[in-house]
Amino acid sequence: MADMLNRAKMVRDKLWQVFGNNQKPTRIVKAPGRVNLIGEHTDYNDGFVLPVAVDREIIMAASPRDDGEVHLYAVDLDAKSSFSLERIERDPHASWSNYIRGVLLLLSQRGLPLRGMNAAFSGDVPLAAGMSSSAALEMASGLMAKVIGGFDIDMVELVKVAQAAENTFVGVNCGIMDQFISGLGKKGHALFLDCRSLDYDLVPLPPTDEYKIVIANTMVKRGLVDSAYNERRSQCEKGVEILKEYLPGIKALRDVSLADFDEYKEHLPDVVARRCEHVIAENERVLASVKALRAGDIAEFGRLMRASHESLRDLYEVSCKELDIMVEAAWEITGTCGARMTGAGFGGCTVNLVEGDRVHDFVAVVRDVYQKKTGITPEFYVCEAEDGATELEL
Ligand code: GLA
Repeated sequence: MADMLNRAKMVRDKLWQVFGNNQKPTRIVKAPGRVNLIGEHTDYNDGFVLPVAVDREIIMAASPRDDGEVHLYAVDLDAKSSFSLERIERDPHASWSNYIRGVLLLLSQRGLPLRGMNAAFSGDVPLAAGMSSSAALEMASGLMAKVIGGFDIDMVELVKVAQAAENTFVGVNCGIMDQFISGLGKKGHALFLDCRSLDYDLVPLPPTDEYKIVIANTMVKRGLVDSAYNERRSQCEKGVEILKEYLPGIKALRDVSLADFDEYKEHLPDVVARRCEHVIAENERVLASVKALRAGDIAEFGRLMRASHESLRDLYEVSCKELDIMVEAAWEITGTCGARMTGAGFGGCTVNLVEGDRVHDFVAVVRDVYQKKTGITPEFYVCEAEDGATELEL
């Protein structure tokens, strides 16, 4: 917390340095990155997810301008980009600004009274690591537009705008999980989300001195993430299209039970059947995980995390050698309750639930095994569940 407030002051001071000391009023917001505990590749199938907003976030400081212009400064990149609210287009030379531009464009298309602003932002969500730094930037921008414009929009609507901006303006066909958890996460809790109805429930996490969430970064980022992601989406849609002939009325894989799937899977092409089986079983694992966590059954939750990884590796085929090495190393260690890949896959991070007093050993052993087997030095982030996007007072 102290660290976050110090960074907020730093961002505010940068705003003043870059745009002048007369920035009044200066408003500050934060929006966190996330880690998904379980429920992978289920969000765009109308399914269930169980993510956590982490204590790593984007912080944005801004003050209004009267000329309808938006002037942005990315502190970490030492880069600027500006545009008029009258004409919001992509900036190919500052692609980081497109997340902000997209959100502002979609808000203005909803007829909301946006105001111009000077804004500076900085973050400690690792980039391109599968911890949703882009969703955090979108949510920070949306919340800042609301605060500076002085208009009303509730958080779930802001989440929908941010996801739509990523889909239509940035051009990534993601589901709603990342923006939702960045907007509505709660300290000490995971968020169980029904991605169809957007109903959600907070699930208390075990005390942080007993169990820690350790995120391990493989430092690997595959180039084909977007195309492989879109391919998985269309394979799921294909599955629904075929299964509809036998199960009229289904709209998404969410509507298919494992029993029905077993009965009709022979009609699906092999690869489509494997993708569908992952999604259908993963939805059940999320429901079982919520039950296990509520009952304090961490061992059962760990077993479900492992089953999720194996399914993502073997059926959905979105893991990679490095992620497998990382989770296999974790599974071997006493004190690891559960470990799996998290996020879209093909690199990025694993999420691990580790007994509090074993974290030090866990990090040392996983680092050593991973380094020996891959030659890559991984990074570790011991995280706590934090609140979602909010305005900060200094
Ligand atoms: C990415 C997407 C999410 C979700 C995950 C996989 O993080 O942005 O919407 O689909 O992949 O679970």
